[in-house]
Amino acid sequence: MTDRYAVIGNPIAQSKSPVIHAAFARQVDHDIRYDAVLAAPDAFEHTVRAFMAEGGRGMNVTAPFKLDALALSDRLSDRAQAAQAVNTLSFTEDGIVGDNTDGFGLVFDIQSHLRMPLAGRRILIVGAGGAARGVLLPLLQAGPASLLVVNRSQDKAQALVEPWTGRYPTIAAGGLPAVRGRQFDVVINATSTGLSDTALDLGQDLYAPGALAYEMVYGRETSFMADARAQGAAVVADGLGMLVGQAAESFRIWRGVMPDPDPVLQMLLSR
Ligand code: ATR
Repeated sequence: MTDRYAVIGNPIAQSKSPVIHAAFARQVDHDIRYDAVLAAPDAFEHTVRAFMAEGGRGMNVTAPFKLDALALSDRLSDRAQAAQAVNTLSFTEDGIVGDNTDGFGLVFDIQSHLRMPLAGRRILIVGAGGAARGVLLPLLQAGPASLLVVNRSQDKAQALVEPWTGRYPTIAAGGLPAVRGRQFDVVINATSTGLSDTALDLGQDLYAPGALAYEMVYGRETSFMADARAQGAAVVADGLGMLVGQAAESFRIWRGVMPDPDPVLQMLLSR
């Protein structure tokens, strides 16, 4: 029987996940069906349980339901616990298992696709909302020399790093002015400015030689990306590779085999 999966969100029509998972399934010759499911804002749990009742095996979860998925999970992976958000649900005999593959997708894209090993690098994350929290643990586990989280409201950045300072002394927090006079090898925009295309003033001389500027949203050139180019970042990337990377890790969780994200990313870029 064909195993069924889906991505759930609102809106959902724009989602690339069905195309990505269909490509992974072809690549490893698995027989799956992967749909996009729209849920009304107050009908997340009902919609998930209906999909389970139809025999669904797992779901990806996108905005605005990652916190609802956290609450619905009977068990959580360490990374979902750390992210306090769930983007991958597996329906098992022991109940609903919640995981978060966003940080994996980001680290995979940076290290494997963009070929920038993170060990020993100086990383800057701008933003301290859900997007930043979702990727913190996998970035720390990659072993950077330092990881500075800055945010417009400094107290949010402080609260975000606080649980990690004991285990990872390389992490620190500050307000946006904390970046002045410092240089970074990797700068990640985890603010929502990429969605509204609001400017983000990070000052001058942020980028060390060979540095990467990474925008977590995808689909168009944001002002963060344009600024990074103007300031001499060696590589400027949007979040499409992260999207494909998180999907690959979800596929591995469900299917037990890791697909190769690269040809699927190339396919999306050539569309
Ligand atoms: P998400 O889930 O996408 O992270 P969020 O939790 O609402 O969304 O967080 C949005 C992030 O973008 C926050 O870090 C926010 O900064 P504040 O905590 O100070 O609000 C940041 N952000 C949004 N607009 C911004 C702007 N114009 N300049 C700087 N940071 C901005």
